[in-house]
Amino acid sequence: MFSVKFNFKRRLLPLYSSLLLVLSIGSVSPGANDLHFYDGVSPADVIFGDVFFEILDPPELRYSYRIRPAKDFGAPFNESIHFANARLVPTKPLHSCSDIENFEDIVGQIALSERGECSFVYKTVMAQQAGARAVIITESVDKWDENIDHLIEMVDDKMELDVNIPAAFLLGRSGATILNTLRKLRRRYAVVNLPINMTHVPINKMNQPPWIAW
Ligand SMILES: *[C@@H]1O[C@H](CO)[C@@H](O)[C@H](O)[C@H]1NC(C)=O
Ligand SMILES: *[C@@H]1O[C@H](CO)[C@@H](O)[C@H](O)[C@H]1NC(C)=O
Repeated sequence: MFSVKFNFKRRLLPLYSSLLLVLSIGSVSPGANDLHFYDGVSPADVIFGDVFFEILDPPELRYSYRIRPAKDFGAPFNESIHFANARLVPTKPLHSCSDIENFEDIVGQIALSERGECSFVYKTVMAQQAGARAVIITESVDKWDENIDHLIEMVDDKMELDVNIPAAFLLGRSGATILNTLRKLRRRYAVVNLPINMTHVPINKMNQPPWIAW
């Protein structure tokens, strides 16, 4: 009896230490990829300040996507921000650091830009000038290996720019898949609903993309 217990404990020890290691890594970089540590709590606790949108078309991208609103710039994602069957339009140029050429697609819609070259605030201002009503920024495709699974906290870089549309960050893995799929299908935009209310949706019913590890 005693020896059975003893062996049991010894077997569990390595498990405990690897669990502790994983937990401490998780607390250093909170992001979508550590969500599975929240198993058993309500979706509201998992979602905190994040927002979800869904892609309706093209069908290849028909999933729900989680985005993290900018921390201290831009308008809030409040009740005024409501898109149904709207366009999510990759900007040209994709980094949105100079005048956006495809403003005709973007006016009144949601711009999709990639990180890099200039600040998040600057990109948001360029999207706003092109007529976008919101902007989603994702990891730049050539940097996606390092940062693909992290939701970046976008903070103001203290430029004195007047931003009055909301901005949010999308996981690099999702952003790259959306951009690549649209390119492959020769589509100028995806059709989306934003936000979608996930408050009472169980985690396993959230229709997350298969490339997101929950
Ligand atoms: C949402 O936020 C914007 C910008 O702060 C504000 O102008 C608007 O009145 C707000 N809408 C609601 C419904 O609170
Ligand atoms: C989401 O839906 C629940 C009811 O299911 C409601 O109580 C809550 O206010 C909704 N949240 C938003 C942001 O609309």
